[in-house]
Amino acid sequence: MLFIFLNRNIFRQIIDNPINSCTDIARFSGTVKNLCVFALSTPYNGSHNLNFCACVIGHNLIDNLVNSSAKSLERVEQITGKSLDFYQNDVRDRDAMERIFSKHDIDCVIHFAGLKAVGESVAMPLEYYDNNLYSTVVLCETMRDHGVKNIVFSSSATVYSGDNTMPLRENSHTGMCTNPYGWTKYMCEQILRDTGKAIPDWSIALLRYFNPIGAHSSGLIGEDPRGIPNNLMPYISQVAIGRRDHLNVFGDDYDTPDGTGVRDYIHVVDLARGHVAAIDYMQTHKGENVFNLGTGIGYSVLDMVHAFERVTGKKIPYEITARRPGDLATVYASPDKSAELLGWKAQYNLDDMCRDTWAWQTKNPMGYGE
Ligand code: UD1
Repeated sequence: MLFIFLNRNIFRQIIDNPINSCTDIARFSGTVKNLCVFALSTPYNGSHNLNFCACVIGHNLIDNLVNSSAKSLERVEQITGKSLDFYQNDVRDRDAMERIFSKHDIDCVIHFAGLKAVGESVAMPLEYYDNNLYSTVVLCETMRDHGVKNIVFSSSATVYSGDNTMPLRENSHTGMCTNPYGWTKYMCEQILRDTGKAIPDWSIALLRYFNPIGAHSSGLIGEDPRGIPNNLMPYISQVAIGRRDHLNVFGDDYDTPDGTGVRDYIHVVDLARGHVAAIDYMQTHKGENVFNLGTGIGYSVLDMVHAFERVTGKKIPYEITARRPGDLATVYASPDKSAELLGWKAQYNLDDMCRDTWAWQTKNPMGYGE
């Protein structure tokens, strides 16, 4: 698990400053109140996004390195020019949590902690329920015991049921998840919702991520999946760099313009900006707040292949194979509520996402090399 303590004022600075100017932002290091970020154990939503936050803020960091790399922390230090205080702990470790919350004056928590591989969750449901649910329970208990009342949770578009019409809105149907990973996100939302009802002055932001891709523009930190990538963009990128022969396109007979699956891809830096906007919103809005973090634009698998080829000049050989069980034809967000209430809108387009993914991949052909 990854913990990071951030100064809330610095987050505000992020809103007012160009997001890529990490070193500038890192210079703002007031001493008001602290934000505690629990990332963890996933190469992307944990390590990468957190590391992005860390590089923006430059503060204390804790990680059990289950699914992430110590090298990424060095990279963050390189980007920010600041050294990080690093702790290795697990959110399920009550004693460790107690020590950390006693040591720091925490004002707000970002809870990224969770395993996220769909196929793995089907094979290892108990590990997923233990890791994702229990960490949330322990975290909420520790927050309650220490009077911490603000939490941002990394949820997912996977909580929406398959019977919705597009675009998905925050009040679209949820549930009927197709795998244990999806259920853990659904259940964590419920744990937080119920806790928020029981302790009325809590402020809870449930952020439903669509398909995060891209990397930090420096190319120093990015997504480094262990083994064969499950997700489309890292797979395409590994084909381009020569680590894989070709992409398997999972079905071309969907009811979509070219027959391949359509998704709402969002740049990971836009995703990070969404957290900043949510934290700002929470300062004046108590209770449960659900927001989609997506662009509202759907691209097909072949759109992604062609965009990557155009931006990088690399050919991506592909073969059409059978549909992947559990996949939907089309999934994309309505970003209207986030725009209206958070004042947040994705800024990066598909070419930016491809360019930054490729910068990371070319600078790090074998990821962090571990
Ligand atoms: C997946 C998860 C979702 C999770 C999200 C995190 C599944 C069923 N869903 O979403 O729960 O929150 O990742 O980012 O795994 N594709 C190929 N070839 C590949 C890989 C993917 O054709 O090698 C296609 C898929 O069929 C889909 C699209 O690319 O149409 C996107 O797939 P992926 O990146 O795995 O994301 P999701 O399935 O949307």
